[in-house]
Amino acid sequence: MKKIILLSLLIGGVLFSQTAFAKKVKIGFVVKQPESGWFQDEWKFAEKAAKEKGFTLVKIAAEDGDKLMSAIDNLGAQQADGFIVCTPNVKLGKAIVRRAKQNKLKVMSVDDRFVTASGKPITSVPHIGISAYKIGQQVGESLLKEMKARKWQFKDVGAMALVYEQLPTAQERTKGAADYLIAHGFPKANIFMTPHELDNTEKSFNAGNTLIAKKAKIKKWLVFGMNDQVSIGGVRALEGNGIAAKNIIGIGINGSEEAINEFKKKKQTGFYGTVILSASKHGYESSIAMYNWITKGKKPAPITYTTGILATKANFRAVRKKLGLE
Ligand code: GLA
Repeated sequence: MKKIILLSLLIGGVLFSQTAFAKKVKIGFVVKQPESGWFQDEWKFAEKAAKEKGFTLVKIAAEDGDKLMSAIDNLGAQQADGFIVCTPNVKLGKAIVRRAKQNKLKVMSVDDRFVTASGKPITSVPHIGISAYKIGQQVGESLLKEMKARKWQFKDVGAMALVYEQLPTAQERTKGAADYLIAHGFPKANIFMTPHELDNTEKSFNAGNTLIAKKAKIKKWLVFGMNDQVSIGGVRALEGNGIAAKNIIGIGINGSEEAINEFKKKKQTGFYGTVILSASKHGYESSIAMYNWITKGKKPAPITYTTGILATKANFRAVRKKLGLE
């Protein structure tokens, strides 16, 4: 009898450890704008990590706070282990952390860092994001360089500085570009801060049109903002108001689908360039970091900053190739 009990305990133990072993790690990847090329790329690179490490990746779109909260509950119900998120609203940070805890999920953020009600970053949540101000300066530098190549005079040029004020990374990007221009002689009075709602082409197009109506005398324009969609909106507004593409230098950030589509057009549009960011670092490395946290108990670094590189219609294929994107 004893032997039988012992044997069944043994078998039970083996079975138990096998099931424990068989429970696949499950990681959620929640994004605020599933339709944007940037987030498609992030998901793609997260999938690469999932294949490599053999975990299950659950991709979820959450365009607002309600969807985000139910996404977290949903992941909890599926017994996921953790999730990576680009939140639709950074001020939800504390609520996200609370909800993740209730569902026994580890959480890290990507792209848009959580902030407290007073706007301070929540440093206890590991984050991967761009060095926004520096990337903005890079945009400023590239705008100036192209302006010089076209032999434009400062006095003739207006700068449409599109800014999404609700999002710190967006503010920093626009400020970085504007500061760079000012520091290199561009008249501050000709830089027009142009706030828009949400980061998409339609909203920045509307904001751009309002500005252009007020500054009808200006015939040469620089355009910049937090990402490609936003800069493209500003460029379209100018083109729609009769400003020729050769009199517009628009630079975006991200370097994903929206920018590539623009470069693929036969004619040069007013959208001149983009700073390509590392979707692979944001999607792949965040997923690997989360996986290691779950399986090895190794909490990811509190903050990881990533960089970018300028590409234009003339060289985007070569740059993408060099970055392993084509
Ligand atoms: C924000 C923007 C995205 C992209 C990322 C990069 O989330 O909305 O388009 O620029 O930052 O981190």
